[in-house]
Amino acid sequence: MERVLAYLQEVKYYGKAVLLSLEAPGVAAEAVPGQFVQVLCGRDSPRVLRRPFSIFSAKAGRILLLSKVVGKGTSWLAELKAGEQVDLIGPLGRGFAMDEGDRPALVAGGAGIAPLHFLAERLMERRTEPSLYWGLDLGEEFGELPALLGKRFRLFMCSRDGCLGERGTVVEALAREKEPEFNAVYACGPREMLGALAKEIKGANLPFQLSLEERMACGVGACQGCAVPIRSARPAYSRVCKDGPVFRFEEIDWRAYFGGS
Ligand SMILES: Cc1cc2nc3c(=O)[nH]c(=O)nc-3n(C[C@H](O)[C@H](O)[C@H](O)COP(=O)(O)OP(=O)(O)OC[C@H]3O[C@@H](n4cnc5c(N)ncnc54)[C@H](O)[C@@H]3O)c2cc1C
Ligand code: FES
Repeated sequence: MERVLAYLQEVKYYGKAVLLSLEAPGVAAEAVPGQFVQVLCGRDSPRVLRRPFSIFSAKAGRILLLSKVVGKGTSWLAELKAGEQVDLIGPLGRGFAMDEGDRPALVAGGAGIAPLHFLAERLMERRTEPSLYWGLDLGEEFGELPALLGKRFRLFMCSRDGCLGERGTVVEALAREKEPEFNAVYACGPREMLGALAKEIKGANLPFQLSLEERMACGVGACQGCAVPIRSARPAYSRVCKDGPVFRFEEIDWRAYFGGS
């Protein structure tokens, strides 16, 4: 883990998201899928909390970050231009264990595609071809990116508004598979999606890893701001930033995570 001022080589715009290509050789060499970086969003503003972004890709001394604009920090990132510098810390957290099965399903909701894209790249390098399921609220949210990824991966798209791929959620799409041939599941997305997915596949007894996107403060394990309940004889918590963001399904106390429901 290191703090770097990364040179921004290229910015691409995809709907409401930007893909940033950053020169960060140390981070790129060390990173594994599921890890993230903490980005200082805003110049000369040390009081601003860094924002976490999963690593979308890491190769040849560069990392790619995909950021969907949702608020102030991500709006600031979306206005950066090639040639500027970005202050980041990483790689952080625990990534995915990659040797779980030779027919993995990767299930992403919205910006949750970022860590799963990196995972898909690394699995392909190991000659394992994943099936990538990506669900969006609005079909246009990520512009041309789904079409580009569809050329490289076995990709199934769905959107709630029905404007891209099948209409409905990604979990419904996975459930409709006639002959599920997966022997491992990896997922990243909003809480509700992960909850629905957990219900859908919990009886299947498959290796199931999820990357949780909790709100974070320090991002390095010091403040407990990202704690999630874990299964244990006594109430216990793990920090998403340090012990995660990737967890195994059976590690999380899902009842407590969803507030007892
Ligand atoms: C480990 C991790 C990896 C992430 N990877 C990515 C990524 O690759 N690409 C990406 O686009 N985003 C990712 N996120 C989410 C990203 O960090 C937030 O969208 C970002 O911090 C929002 O900053 P902001 O200042 O623009 O929004 P704010 O002004 O802070 O908030 C705007 C809105 O976004 C919501 N929001 C903020 N943070 C989160 C969050 N963590 N989860 C859900 N809702 C949130 C707020 O509730 C609010 O409604 C990741 C989060 C985590 C914890
Ligand atoms: S964000 Fe501070 S401990 Fe995780």
